[in-house]
Amino acid sequence: MTRISERGKSIFASPFRKYLPYADAAKARGIDVIHLNIGQPDFLMPDGILDSFKWSASSFVPYGIAEGENELRATWAEYYQKFNIEVTAENVMVTTGASEALQMALLAIADPGDEAIVPEPFYANYNGFCQIAGVNIVPLPTSIDDGFPIPPSVDFEAAITERTRCILISNPNNPTGKIFPQEQLRQLVRLAVKHDLFLMVDEAYSEFVYQTYDFYSALTFADADQHVIVIDSVSKRFNACGLRVGALVSRNAALLDSITNLSRLRLSPPMLAQRMAIQLLKSPGSYYAGVLEEFTHRRALMLDRLKKIDGLDFHAPEGAFYIFARLPIEDSEDFSRWLLTDFSHQGQTVMIAPGTGFYASPGQGLNEVRIAYVLEEKRLSAAMDCLEQALATYPKTVSAALKA
Ligand SMILES: Cc1ncc(COP(=O)(O)O)c(C=O)c1O
Repeated sequence: MTRISERGKSIFASPFRKYLPYADAAKARGIDVIHLNIGQPDFLMPDGILDSFKWSASSFVPYGIAEGENELRATWAEYYQKFNIEVTAENVMVTTGASEALQMALLAIADPGDEAIVPEPFYANYNGFCQIAGVNIVPLPTSIDDGFPIPPSVDFEAAITERTRCILISNPNNPTGKIFPQEQLRQLVRLAVKHDLFLMVDEAYSEFVYQTYDFYSALTFADADQHVIVIDSVSKRFNACGLRVGALVSRNAALLDSITNLSRLRLSPPMLAQRMAIQLLKSPGSYYAGVLEEFTHRRALMLDRLKKIDGLDFHAPEGAFYIFARLPIEDSEDFSRWLLTDFSHQGQTVMIAPGTGFYASPGQGLNEVRIAYVLEEKRLSAAMDCLEQALATYPKTVSAALKA
């Protein structure tokens, strides 16, 4: 038998996708599966993007520059000016989505056995990215009981060891929807400077900010140039998840040199997608305002529906488009699977992401799930009908029986 490495076999299974075969099987049985498992909004890209896409080199598609096309890097730097952030094109490394930026960043700043401090719950794929880089996650627990509060900087400081290389956060946070207030972000920046660490902030959701909440990019702290890494992406902001264009942004020249070496290994980011990303980053603010308005309605609908479900706890998200909820169940893995294998309501079911994958601490998230409100209101309503009905009928003893 050919051998598969232990590393390969143990790669962390993404909670958003691991039950897709069950979803496919449900669809094959004629069930309409409503996908709230993954953060892929159903909006279109800004008008005219496809029309404006020009490829002047006829059918010749060469490799590009490893760091990304200069025009895209310059356009990205210009885009940041609307947040009053001054970065140069050289500070922006184009990557194949934020996912690649995160992997490259971890490989560049940490050696196997080093540590990253990450408040949990966190974006589930951080587990896999850290695993591949041999980085141990040191989780800072936060709880739904008090609304997943952002841990005070003394907690971050207490977790620092000789092996700590970075503090990793997503802001706005996936999955809790929390936003780091400016002062707390500033304290983390100070901590990074004091202990000579990187503060790595994943800002994929920077434009998804509700009501009166304010977002501050870590790049605004220019006095911490050497310590800040921002991870960015066009995926969510421009409804272009499949384009696979992201960025790693830093003013630390030594880090950028290492990232350049890493990026040369994969030769270049996708060339055609980069041409399109240039157009996306030049989109008028009105595009984004429209998307946010629609998300504001979707969020209101979700909050209204969820608060009517008995025994369900959640907190209103301040940003992004997820709700991390506690359900009256024992095993969110079992429940999420059961929704696809054994349940339907009026020919429909809902797919959600079980909460365990959003933690590094074993045993956490067992009765929690992440719901992505990325579909139109009619679909969200139908999904909430399904969830309500499912919770009323789910045999609470199923998971215990399975374990016995
Ligand atoms: C916080 C966060 N970072 C990164 C990513 C990955 O983004 P990309 O599509 O740019 O690889 C996601 C996707 O859901 C995310 O939620």
